[in-house]
Amino acid sequence: MRIVSVVGTRPQLIKAATLQPVLRREHQEVFVDTGQHYDEAMAGSFFTELGLAAPDYSIGVGGGGQGDQTGRMLIGLEPVIREERPDAVLVYGDTNSTLAGALAAAKLGVPVAHVEAGLRSFDRSMPEELNRVVADHLSSWLFAPTPAAVANLAAEGITAGVTEVGDLMLDLAARVSAEVRDPAALASVAARLSLWLKPGNYLFATIHRAENRTPKAMRAWAELLGAVAGPDRPVVLALHPGTREALRAAGVELPDGILVIEPQGYRTSLALQLHAAAVLTDSGGVQRESAWLGVPCLVLRSTTEWVETVGSEGSSAVLVGLDRDAAVREIEARAPADRSAAQSVRRAAGLRLQGSGAAERIVALLSGARAVERPAVRPGQPQGQPPAKATR
Ligand code: UD1
Ligand code: UDP
Repeated sequence: MRIVSVVGTRPQLIKAATLQPVLRREHQEVFVDTGQHYDEAMAGSFFTELGLAAPDYSIGVGGGGQGDQTGRMLIGLEPVIREERPDAVLVYGDTNSTLAGALAAAKLGVPVAHVEAGLRSFDRSMPEELNRVVADHLSSWLFAPTPAAVANLAAEGITAGVTEVGDLMLDLAARVSAEVRDPAALASVAARLSLWLKPGNYLFATIHRAENRTPKAMRAWAELLGAVAGPDRPVVLALHPGTREALRAAGVELPDGILVIEPQGYRTSLALQLHAAAVLTDSGGVQRESAWLGVPCLVLRSTTEWVETVGSEGSSAVLVGLDRDAAVREIEARAPADRSAAQSVRRAAGLRLQGSGAAERIVALLSGARAVERPAVRPGQPQGQPPAKATR
């Protein structure tokens, strides 16, 4: 098959890194980057680190509000799909790039394949929830990572084309975690960042959700992070550039005990999670990775679509929202300061992560697909020109 795959953000580059090599063994991929993320630290460096192919098309939307950004992606994607006449358009996750890829394809009558279908937080104030719902309802292949995702789709009447395939991010984490298991991996990160980091002597944090970028929310999580940071156990915050800008614009200062670093590469992120005393995050990917690595994780949201990580007694993750007292309580219970170094050493030494085979299953399902008749790309005005083929 000829498949246009659409990426644009950091987690999509990470997911594509697992699928792309397997996909390319059997299918012809046209790789399109919307450029939703554009900083070297958020996008460019992942191409190099994870060995991704250079995009065939770079749309270069770079920032903007929800509608503006999505609209410019649609304008950029439509001519690419017309020009390439793919058998399918493949999209990942729940970002505006996912929505634009699915919508542009569906409007041209091209079947959509959605990786990470069926996730629901049941909170439609999140842009991601809207993107997921729309992408799922437009898709012909729905590659669900979990049984709960399959059940969510069934509850919306979607059963055709749905398969539980596993999780591409787990597969990458399984492959790479062996490289960062040794405390020497943390030592080299610490040396590069000029920070005094030892197993269990810091907390790792990331924050980027839109709901956590309002002035009120930023003041609340800044205070929360300050409260969980101890004198000998700082919070290392890998700060998303959008959150950095929102903090600056609102004049919110971070308290002592929070060490702000730039967004890091994939291996560094995994190493910083694995060797931390605990993780605090509103990221779906980090929440899952910390569960796979066995690191205590406080989720700075009131809902989650990754219900497995918080579902039961003994789950590694817990939803604390922006409740400072709950966060302090959970950190004390899950990663007490006097025990976190030993916990961290034991965890890393014992880590043996198994992949889920998601890439192989997705490709097998696409390969087994009834040969989809090459769609007659629907006429429409104006046609537009595809952006010049480009490399990063
Ligand atoms: C997006 C996704 C979110 C995903 C996250 C992954 C949507 C609605 N949100 O959120 O689901 O979890 O990516 O990280 O699609 N910025 C930069 N440089 C960059 C990228 C962003 O400076 O390389 C700044 C810009 O000011 C931009 C802001 O961050 O306006 C927000 O970026 P955007 O891509 O719109 O949303 P994210 O918060 O990154
Ligand atoms: N990540 C990274 N560098 C960082 C922070 C996170 O490589 O500084 C990785 C993290 O390990 C995970 C992915 O980015 O693999 C999660 O992406 P993100 O938090 O941007 O988005 P989400 O998963 O919430 O959509």
